[in-house]
Amino acid sequence: MRIGLLGVGTVGQAVARALIERRDVLSRAAGANLVLQRAAVRDLSRPRPLAREQLSTDPFAIVRADDVDLVIELLGGEEPARALIAAALERGRPVITANKRVLAWHGPQLLAIASTRGAELRYEAAVGGGIPLIAPLTDDLAANRVTELHAIINGTCNYILTRMAQGETLEEALAKAQEAGYAEADPRDDVEGVDAADKLCVLVRLAFNAQCTPAQIFKQGIRALDPRDLSYGRELGYVLKLLAIARRSPGGGVEARVHPAFLPADHPLARVDGAQNAVHVVGDLCGPVMFSGLGAGGDATASAVLADLVHVARRLALGDPVPPQRESGPEAQVTPMSEVRTRCFFRLAVDDVPGVFAQITRVLADHQIGLASVIQREPGRLGSAEVVLLTYAAPEQALANAEEELAKLPSTRAIKARIRVEGQK
Ligand SMILES: NC(=O)c1ccc[n+]([C@@H]2O[C@H](COP(=O)([O-])OP(=O)(O)OC[C@H]3O[C@@H](n4cnc5c(N)ncnc54)[C@H](OP(=O)(O)O)[C@@H]3O)[C@@H](O)[C@H]2O)c1
Repeated sequence: MRIGLLGVGTVGQAVARALIERRDVLSRAAGANLVLQRAAVRDLSRPRPLAREQLSTDPFAIVRADDVDLVIELLGGEEPARALIAAALERGRPVITANKRVLAWHGPQLLAIASTRGAELRYEAAVGGGIPLIAPLTDDLAANRVTELHAIINGTCNYILTRMAQGETLEEALAKAQEAGYAEADPRDDVEGVDAADKLCVLVRLAFNAQCTPAQIFKQGIRALDPRDLSYGRELGYVLKLLAIARRSPGGGVEARVHPAFLPADHPLARVDGAQNAVHVVGDLCGPVMFSGLGAGGDATASAVLADLVHVARRLALGDPVPPQRESGPEAQVTPMSEVRTRCFFRLAVDDVPGVFAQITRVLADHQIGLASVIQREPGRLGSAEVVLLTYAAPEQALANAEEELAKLPSTRAIKARIRVEGQK
């Protein structure tokens, strides 16, 4: 089984090394002799675990090569990765990729080519790095109707929020994440929730058989968060996480959203700290199941790529036909965010004058929002008091309207935070 590897960077390097060092184990598992035949890179002068004559700077030449039986795409980015995957599938070559961006935006089209050409497209490494997720959702939970999914799928944000829970500011925690190699020099996709939304899109299609594009997913990042919110949350028994959430909604659609959310401190995801990832799924037969582990890193991600490789090679060696793609939707549509119901945490800076609380509760009552808990702090040096409200579940639109009216109250100095709350306490 001759492999064409596109990209020998963080993940590609770990895949190449394992293919060389663990060739016997992998070939036995695959029932075929696995050979790393060719690889594409940009810079030929860097040291690689392959001979110079196996390397090329033209990834399309590798896809076209007659001595390549399957392609592993580990370039990253949208193009030319998408075009390379499409070209390989068009030639009937199986493709393994870790590319969440391409899958989120072009997955259905690529799977359609795969299906027409009878070639397999696998992507275990695209979500949650080394955590087995795609195969369990596709096969092991196939008998279930998944009712909800909560995921921590951006290690950078989870690392930052774990440090903010210890009192660091976002800037301090982000600088530490960059020092530790968890955050990119340009961390926008991570902290703005773009990366998590791409991954959630892939999970929503699989787990809910729903039609979904990243553009339909509500996204709110972690930039506006303050360590004070995490500390008030702790007082109320909650932990703050950047969550990717999908849930069947009563109207038959599927909610799909990425935003910071408070979770009860005893929720299994509340204990997932640092750069760890975890996905908590509830199926109607199996009940709650959680997958957790390293969501990134060369070796962990290579583990998932190689799992796909063993699967594809074994099937080819046995002459098995390609199984039909599961992403056969659309069974459901994404529910508009305005219809989503959540509980909410508000933090307000208010004047310390009589009647403030009555005004606040009147606004909430006008929007039929019930109040579950309140924390009130005496004025600080600047003379404004701080009020924290925890509401019962209400539609997003009502919560947004209430926020707008609270901001207009004469006694309100600022709405410092509105953070959604997930899970039952
Ligand atoms: N890193 C992780 O922890 C992780 C985790 C999960 C999923 N992933 C996914 O895995 C994929 C690879 O990520 P990575 O971190 O390994 O990326 P990376 O370190 O940036 O490596 C990219 C590799 O592709 C090569 N390359 C890029 N564009 C090329 C082009 N046009 N022609 C030829 N070669 C090209 C680069 O060549 P040079 O070496 O010459 O620059 C490099 O070898 C991405 O889709 C990423 O989202 C990564």
